[in-house]
Amino acid sequence: MRRYVIAGNWKMNMTPAQTAAFIKELAPMVAGKDKCDIVLCVPFVDIAPAIEAAKGTNIKIGAENVHFKESGAYTGEISASMLKEIGTEYVIVGHSERRQYFAETDETVNLRTKAALAAGLKVILCLGELLEARQAGITEEIVSMQTKLDFAGIPAEDLKNIIIAYEPVWAIGTGLTATPAQADEACGIIRRVIGDLYGAKAAEEMIIQYGGSMNDANAAELLACENVDGGLIGGASLKTDKFTAIVDAAN
Ligand code: 13P
Repeated sequence: MRRYVIAGNWKMNMTPAQTAAFIKELAPMVAGKDKCDIVLCVPFVDIAPAIEAAKGTNIKIGAENVHFKESGAYTGEISASMLKEIGTEYVIVGHSERRQYFAETDETVNLRTKAALAAGLKVILCLGELLEARQAGITEEIVSMQTKLDFAGIPAEDLKNIIIAYEPVWAIGTGLTATPAQADEACGIIRRVIGDLYGAKAAEEMIIQYGGSMNDANAAELLACENVDGGLIGGASLKTDKFTAIVDAAN
């Protein structure tokens, strides 16, 4: 029932010129592969050239972050309405690198999500446990708590515009991947919490991606998991052939 969403998170990679060239190369490779949504989340200055290059293709463009205020004295920040006006469709919120290096908390993740939704953006909300939490056997408590805090005050009618990305922090950029069983279990826990908060139908419909060293070699087995509805891909989204192979796995 749920539709796969394969999304790239470019992080701090690619210039505007590289962005345009990448999308021109990727577009024919993924053309017609419409059993999944295909999204590239790119650095702020790459968004406009990405949207231009992706016109008439099945590639959708997103940002990697958004501020929670509409405007004001927040030097260096970008608002949701700015992103919306230039045609941005998606935005990543709460990525672990934002939480780790830029002091994001569940409270600011929640505020950013609300601001993005209010502007009409679709949100890819990231959460996941640290290695210490997994080793201590408290993954379930951590991801449950994050889900509850990040969704606080978000009404049920907004859920159709939110994708959750389960990203165990120990698997991001490390080459370590959660096993399909680990990914399925954690995504299932998150789905159960969404069910507790919003009911069984909402849980059934929520798209939950796995992220953390997903690549062309492991995508098929991760995407085969009942609770995994796509991927949020870092490193492998910077190579057209690897990213296309993941799109193929979803198709
Ligand atoms: P990698 O795929 O490079 O591990 O990154 C995952 C990620 O952080 C996607 O948001």
